[in-house]
Amino acid sequence: MERILHDLVIIGSGLAGLRAAAAATLKSGGKLDIAVISKLYANRSHSVAAQGGTAAVLYPNEGDSFILHAWDTIKGSDFLADQDAVMILVREAPKEIYFLEHWGMPWNRREDGRIAQRKFGGHSFPRATYAVDKTGLFEMQTLWGIIQRYDNITVYNEHYVTNLIVEQGRFKGVFAIDMKTGEMKAILGKAGILATGMGLRMYKFTTYSLSQTGDGGAIALRAGLALKDMEFVQFHPTGLVPSGILITEGARGEGGYLRNNKGERFMKRYAPDRMEIAPRDVVSRAEMTEILEGRGFKGPGGLDYVHLDLTHLGADHINSKLPLVREVSIKFAGVDPINEPIPVRPVAHYPMGGVKISIYGETDIKGLWAAGEVGCLSVHGANRLGSNSTIECLVWGRITGEAAAEYLMNHADGTVTIDKEREKEEERWVYDHFMGRETGEDPYQIRRELREVMDKDFYVFRNGRDMEEGLKKIRELRERAEKMYVADKNKVYNLDLIYTLETYNMVQVSEAIALGAYLRTESRGAHYRTDYPKRDDKNWLKHTLVWLTKDGLEVGYEPVRILLWKPTERKY
Ligand code: FUM
Repeated sequence: MERILHDLVIIGSGLAGLRAAAAATLKSGGKLDIAVISKLYANRSHSVAAQGGTAAVLYPNEGDSFILHAWDTIKGSDFLADQDAVMILVREAPKEIYFLEHWGMPWNRREDGRIAQRKFGGHSFPRATYAVDKTGLFEMQTLWGIIQRYDNITVYNEHYVTNLIVEQGRFKGVFAIDMKTGEMKAILGKAGILATGMGLRMYKFTTYSLSQTGDGGAIALRAGLALKDMEFVQFHPTGLVPSGILITEGARGEGGYLRNNKGERFMKRYAPDRMEIAPRDVVSRAEMTEILEGRGFKGPGGLDYVHLDLTHLGADHINSKLPLVREVSIKFAGVDPINEPIPVRPVAHYPMGGVKISIYGETDIKGLWAAGEVGCLSVHGANRLGSNSTIECLVWGRITGEAAAEYLMNHADGTVTIDKEREKEEERWVYDHFMGRETGEDPYQIRRELREVMDKDFYVFRNGRDMEEGLKKIRELRERAEKMYVADKNKVYNLDLIYTLETYNMVQVSEAIALGAYLRTESRGAHYRTDYPKRDDKNWLKHTLVWLTKDGLEVGYEPVRILLWKPTERKY
């Protein structure tokens, strides 16, 4: 197996990964040899799909403040967020907006020429900083532009990481399949940053692109790390029916209405103050209540929906602020929002959980940090506020990039050696175990069954009986996934092989979601149980931890770090 040595190995090339690469480069004066590994072409990472905005306090003189941003985030999290992490988020956020501004980010502008911000759900001030409704795309392009200026950064496009290499509790690199040749490489590093995102392709109705298959969560589990709070899955209120493509919350931030089949703005019954821009968990439950009580519209394949009505905004407003919303509505649902309402329903959008990390992004493996969606700090608790994720990627991309650079400049010299037997074991797992098998379980069927069960039993409204069945089914799928086989035996661009490995990861991460959800006998944020409809702070004001043992997943808990705000009733 080819071995390649770098100083720093960054796994993932979305906002967090690219920001980390830029930060480590700047911190080290360009001296560190940095690898950025992507399963895609790096600048096509899923971060490009972020639409509506990036939260930051830019206008304290106009009434916004760090304390207000922190309070909104903590209340939005249903008090499960770790408050020290939230304070870092809000304090560091504005610097990231200006960092990107100085590197050429085309932020929308106000009349006075200053950076524009729009309203977003659960925020009590317009603080979503945006570039039309393609914010993630422009942020990625800006960061990509920075990366191009440095020749100390090597980008590995289309390299699929199969596992982390960890020996004696220390990060040593990753195994990755070079998809062009099908050959496996050991890409070694003295430090690493996991920045893969997580993704929720284990749901059928999801905003995630095909690539977002939980790989980062699964490789972390297999390396002995704990996943935290995986039961908290965010369902965004406006997934376009039937594709699931995101219709940005910016559409409601710009003044869009949600209506039921009677034409009513039904949010007045659920969040009379905030209406359509209440937090996502509140709006998604409201929509499903309308649908389940017969006030929705019949959709294809059971995808009943409500209407997102932008018609009153007018063509100019829609074309100038929401061009992507218009384009995808026309192309994927056949409706032009200038004249007709858009069919939408709650869609799997974001996992609040992830790899357990410290507030500095450190994992429990020496020399390995995690940043962005794959990590759980936890700033989002049981429900993330829209526009708080891209800013988390940027803030902790920088924090971890700088921390890793400092660690490398102070401690890490010499080379990295790895156990030869470990290399052979990895090759056996990929090439013999999966590709070598002539018959067995069909990975496409496993994935289909998994996505059915996740949509059915772990959606907006959950209950113990269904989740118990769902968990049982996922465990069966996990056993069957061990026997998957890859029909295509060629090595070059073997997408069958990648699909199989991704499916294996999806099953592993789904089991963590399902187990955490089944065990948490309360409702909090996005985790709503009809059999336990109340929040239960006495027993459940704590984080769930799940880790892998040779006997399967084990569960533990850890306290929430509360600083300023004790949990209170959450009303909007
Ligand atoms: O609705 C949106 O634009 C999504 C933003 C987010 O998830 O933060």
